[in-house]
Amino acid sequence: STLREELLKEIGHLEERKEEAVKAAANCSAEHFQNLFLFLEGLQKRLTALPPTLRSMKTDYASLRSQVRNFSDFYGAAINDAKRQISAAINEMSEANKDLLEKYRKEVALRRKYHEQLVELKGNIRVLCRVKPVLKEDQHEEGQSVVVTTDPNNESSLSVMSKGKDRIFELDKVFHPQATQEEVFQEIEPLVTSCIDGYHVCIFAYGQTGSGKTYTMEGSVENPGINQRALKQLFNVIEERKDMWTYTVTVSSVEIYNEVLRDLLSKDGEKLDIKINPDGTGQLHVPGLRVIEVKSFQHIKKCGELEVSTTSTCLIVNSSICLLGHK
Ligand SMILES: Nc1ncnc2c1ncn2[C@@H]1O[C@H](COP(=O)(O)OP(=O)(O)OP(=O)(O)O)[C@@H](O)[C@H]1O
Ligand SMILES: [Mg+2]
Repeated sequence: STLREELLKEIGHLEERKEEAVKAAANCSAEHFQNLFLFLEGLQKRLTALPPTLRSMKTDYASLRSQVRNFSDFYGAAINDAKRQISAAINEMSEANKDLLEKYRKEVALRRKYHEQLVELKGNIRVLCRVKPVLKEDQHEEGQSVVVTTDPNNESSLSVMSKGKDRIFELDKVFHPQATQEEVFQEIEPLVTSCIDGYHVCIFAYGQTGSGKTYTMEGSVENPGINQRALKQLFNVIEERKDMWTYTVTVSSVEIYNEVLRDLLSKDGEKLDIKINPDGTGQLHVPGLRVIEVKSFQHIKKCGELEVSTTSTCLIVNSSICLLGHK
């Protein structure tokens, strides 16, 4: 009977716990339900807010689409406009160019006329004098004096002391002993332009042995003389004018030594004659003289190398005469 009592007690216990558990479960599900309800309510609210947002997005999308379409239209129009402007500018430029070209041609003709007048005024032949400085090699000794003096205030006068008297010489230009190769070249530079403009030009150096003919005409590698500077200038001017003019430059090189004329561009320094041109112009010409067409300053230098390798005395002429062929 005690077992029975104990069992009943236990059952009552269990029953109490069951009731407690049921109560707790009920409480819990009510809370859960409450939460769910709140969540649902939130969702519902957000769902009702969605259609207006969607609508505004749709209108945004439509307006963007039309903007894109407009942009390509606008873009095309801008490109066309730019094209029109560019081609107008090009036309304007080429008109201006034509105008400039016309002006330039007139200018060239005018310069030619002025040059003729200048040559007339100055005389066709100009005589320039370069006074050589006293060099170490000249072995200037005590008691010796320099008899040639230049006048710093008059660049066409030269004075030479002779028999105790000063003799004054008048020339077109006198270079003082310190004059540089550049200064000397500057004086003859306009002749290069004249040559290109169609005039015959001849520059030659005259003087006793050791007076500086080779130095003035040929110069050294570091300090070139008239020949090299003039030829460089010639090709520079030709390059400047290349859009408007085409020039042909030809080179011939001769040596006159002991009354014999030799062609320095022929392999064996062929002997030639000087004759009066049968064309009636009265000009001299050398039948059979080699004429080489040259395209650049470097090209002429190569012709020069040929000369040096073929004759031993060519430097005499090389240094004193510079002939520029012009067509
Ligand atoms: N203005 C100058 N300044 C410095 N050195 C010079 C000048 N003129 C000539 N010389 C020098 O004097 C020397 C003689 O000159 P160059 O050889 O030019 O004479 P040349 O007239 O050609 O003589 P040749 O008739 O014998 O050929 C050379 O050493 C040259 O470098
Ligand atoms: Mg010489």
